[in-house]
Amino acid sequence: MEFMTRLGILLSGRGSNFLAIADNIASGQLADCEIAVVLSNKADAPGLDAARRRGLKAIAIEANGRKRAEHDEEIIDILRAHHVDLVILAGYMRLLSRGFIQAFPLRILNIHPSLLPAFPGLDAQQQAFNYGVHVAGCTVHFVDEQLDHGVIITQRTVPVLPTDDEPTLAHRILEQEHIAYSEAIAKVISGNYEIQGRRYIPKK
Ligand code: GAR
Repeated sequence: MEFMTRLGILLSGRGSNFLAIADNIASGQLADCEIAVVLSNKADAPGLDAARRRGLKAIAIEANGRKRAEHDEEIIDILRAHHVDLVILAGYMRLLSRGFIQAFPLRILNIHPSLLPAFPGLDAQQQAFNYGVHVAGCTVHFVDEQLDHGVIITQRTVPVLPTDDEPTLAHRILEQEHIAYSEAIAKVISGNYEIQGRRYIPKK
């Protein structure tokens, strides 16, 4: 049997990016990988229920005021117990400890709803809308020790229309997120790239 990359999904909310990835795996559009486990820091995250309805293992690990490193250790243990190769942050709204990042070097991906390095942090779509940019988009990147900073794997753009408000813009960006994340995962699984400084370079 060919090698399957095992994904560990971390989410905090509705989980539409997770569902897009799961749909693309089910349809065969995203090949050579499977979802090993879905984890959340929020027990009431709708994405966890959606995962269970699809028959996936879904576990909540609430932080409950614990130290970040300690909470992350528990998550790392679960990821390892499920033999996770690639960690996918899909709307996981909690910073990772250094120990977590070092446990999976260049094996943690994040999606952010802006064209980084513009508008890192919270409410990126609102930041972009307020700034008055004419082009917005999303970024999938490797996670490093700085917020929304690691090497960029994929970006997709959308226009900002004069008729937009923040929700219509966020929706247009989200549609592209659902494409971008699977594209980026496929690129990383292929292994057909090298990283030079901050640059992701596909191999010929
Ligand atoms: C997505 O828009 C994702 O880019 C964003 O949270 C949303 C999660 O939606 N993530 C961040 O802002 C991380 N800095 P989803 O739960 O429907 O996938």
